[in-house]
Amino acid sequence: MEVITRISQLRDCLASHRLNQGPDRVKVGLVATMGFLHAGHASLIKAAKAQTDIVVLSIFVNPLQFGPNEDFDKYPRDAERDLHLAEAEGVDIVFAPSVEEMYPGPMKTTVSVSGLTARLCGATRPGHFDGVATVVSKLFHIVQPDKAFFGQKDAQQIAVIQQMVSDLNFPVDIVPCPTLREADGLAMSSRNVYLSEAERRQALVLSQSLAIAADFIRDHPQFSAEELMSEISNHIRTASLGEIDYIEVLAYPSLEPFKRSDELESDQVIVALAVKFSKARLIDNQLFSNKFSKSDLIDNQLISLRK
Ligand code: PAF
Repeated sequence: MEVITRISQLRDCLASHRLNQGPDRVKVGLVATMGFLHAGHASLIKAAKAQTDIVVLSIFVNPLQFGPNEDFDKYPRDAERDLHLAEAEGVDIVFAPSVEEMYPGPMKTTVSVSGLTARLCGATRPGHFDGVATVVSKLFHIVQPDKAFFGQKDAQQIAVIQQMVSDLNFPVDIVPCPTLREADGLAMSSRNVYLSEAERRQALVLSQSLAIAADFIRDHPQFSAEELMSEISNHIRTASLGEIDYIEVLAYPSLEPFKRSDELESDQVIVALAVKFSKARLIDNQLFSNKFSKSDLIDNQLISLRK
């Protein structure tokens, strides 16, 4: 495994792989991360290894996507452990640039995806998705991957990146990968380390809310988005001390609100939520087919959450 910190070195390294093996033979996969890797990242690497020939893992805590009062300085970092995990998973190249390497001066050019970023995390974290779209477009230019792998836990991030790729004609396939969960249902996240013991127990309200949503949609095939949001809100308020940042039921991937499911033209619905604990803001979501047949409604993860 090569560990590279300079953009020029990474370009040279990928160019020599492409030259040696023939550019049509080498498919490059990119797994973009901010480090502090966990099993969720490992599953993205596994998907990349299965579908591409050379896997580049980027590790970069991107200052551009953190607001002034957010946790950029405190964001958990453990370079040594990350490199062990990357090596064990068979990553070919780790790209771990410094902030100065990625942003040698103030950025005068940024990428902003409108509309999709107005709701959910975009509403409560202004500028966040401009930072994400900007760094991901830089990574796409630097690595020129054939495929890039992102976790479905950040469903809005995937929708934003897919829109950017389509609008700006990036020659890359975006591959969404399922959310990985702890045995009790909590979605894996680097920020889970911020939770106290009591909060860790209460954090289960997020995955429980998605299971409640699955039941609700099954029992009310023509459901009202507002009624579903209020079921979820009641559960979170009674079962935790977490502060609800948002609960949204939207068409996916347009992220447009709707009143009743029978008005919907979109193929999918997303139930998405963010809950703040003292030091951690957690997000989770689930996509549902808008056909709402009992068999395709609930994915295996939610069935196992209820067992
Ligand atoms: O999902 C993340 O970890 C980040 O938003 C990403 C895609 C690596 C961009 O910094």
